[in-house]
Amino acid sequence: MSQPYRIALAGLGTVGVGVAKILKAHAEAIARKAGRPIEVVAVSARDKSRNRGFDFSDVTWVEDASTLVNEDVDCIVEMIGGEGGVAKTLAESSLAKGLDFVTANKALLAHHGYELAKVAEGNNAGLMYEAAVAGGIPVIKAIREGYAANDIGAVYGILNGTCNYILTEMRKSGRDFKSVLADAQKLGYAEADPAFDIEGTDAAHKLCLLTALAFGVKPDFKKLAVKGITNVTSVDIEFARQLGYRIKLLGMARKEGNAIVQSVEPCMVPRKSTMGAVDGVFNAVYIEGDFVDTGLLVGRGAGEGPTASAVVADIIDLARGTKLPVFGVPYSDLKEANWGRRGKVESQFYLHLRVMDKPGVLADVSATLRDCDVSIEAMLQQGRDPNNPVSIVMTTHEVQQKQVEEALEGFANLERVLEKPSMMRIEDF
Ligand SMILES: NC(=O)c1ccc[n+]([C@@H]2O[C@H](COP(=O)([O-])OP(=O)(O)OC[C@H]3O[C@@H](n4cnc5c(N)ncnc54)[C@H](OP(=O)(O)O)[C@@H]3O)[C@@H](O)[C@H]2O)c1
Repeated sequence: MSQPYRIALAGLGTVGVGVAKILKAHAEAIARKAGRPIEVVAVSARDKSRNRGFDFSDVTWVEDASTLVNEDVDCIVEMIGGEGGVAKTLAESSLAKGLDFVTANKALLAHHGYELAKVAEGNNAGLMYEAAVAGGIPVIKAIREGYAANDIGAVYGILNGTCNYILTEMRKSGRDFKSVLADAQKLGYAEADPAFDIEGTDAAHKLCLLTALAFGVKPDFKKLAVKGITNVTSVDIEFARQLGYRIKLLGMARKEGNAIVQSVEPCMVPRKSTMGAVDGVFNAVYIEGDFVDTGLLVGRGAGEGPTASAVVADIIDLARGTKLPVFGVPYSDLKEANWGRRGKVESQFYLHLRVMDKPGVLADVSATLRDCDVSIEAMLQQGRDPNNPVSIVMTTHEVQQKQVEEALEGFANLERVLEKPSMMRIEDF
């Protein structure tokens, strides 16, 4: 067998230790697949004395992770995280030196992916990031290799397990967002600071990478419209159920003519669709290609095993000598995308209004919708109480988002409509 493929692990937390465990547990099988043994020669984290439940005593400990590039290694595996800091320094210096680089860090690539691809490809270094999107689902490989023959028209995904867990628990228990989030934190499904997950940023980082791969464009996080799940109420969830839908936080990128429209937002999807059935911490990615038609990949989106499994798969590919363009085409061929406006995209919408249940209120609401050319498919009211606000929800026929937004502005001028009405896109799969 050939020379070992020598790697350094930067970060020994959930993912880092997971990678070390897999490399040890399956050392022989992995060596056969890679055509050479894979050897961990150096590691780095913040606290050397921390018990990690894995024995790293026979491996060189490097105090400053950014100096791992000075070790005699073929590849740096970055599992520290963060858009900048040591992760970025390490990526730049490893790739500039021609060392392969494997990362699970979507924030780093969503913000600096293009520049890093340029350094990697310019120095004949591999840059792999399967674990950065949807953990255990091999979606990067699927789009870059498996669907390479296709002109891809759309990529949609449930890309954040924490949000999907919260929305699933809200539906099953009838509890509100805050109480389910608190439980998710106790169970370890949500971070102490959950903002990145619940505000949609994490899903947006991942979508940004999928968009670049699917359409051959430069990743551009700043061009993404992002809305999280913090305003989804238990009332919305119950109405969705009555209307035959489930609420999912979707990352969506679609070709519209010569433009690409992308967003992360809570949407209603048919309860009976495969996407609607993806519950709990599971992720799903739906792809439309001109020859393959549609494909749906479902699996665990995070956690030690699935994420580490994806990292090790990348290491095996690199040890075999596989080096592919980072975003599917050489960085110099990545196009500047023409980002389309979501307001023009037609879809059905769900609207939720809190109103005083007085005679004439429905006539006022209907007149506003008529003035904006929005036609209604179904309407439901929760309870009857002339002295207290009640919820009214509607689903529209296909209409442009900007017309619905105009109607929402019109509702704000109606005396009996209380609070700012909310809207949600309905996506049919
Ligand atoms: N966890 C998942 O399910 C999952 C899924 C997909 C992708 N990811 C991505 O994988 C990466 C790692 O996530 P994780 O969950 O494994 O995080 P984690 O458990 O918090 O581990 C982070 C590790 O990085 C080390 N570290 C932090 N700052 C450092 C620094 N300045 N220098 C050296 N080491 C430093 C920590 O050291 P100490 O241990 O000494 O504190 C720790 O070992 C992130 O990019 C994350 O987004 C994670």
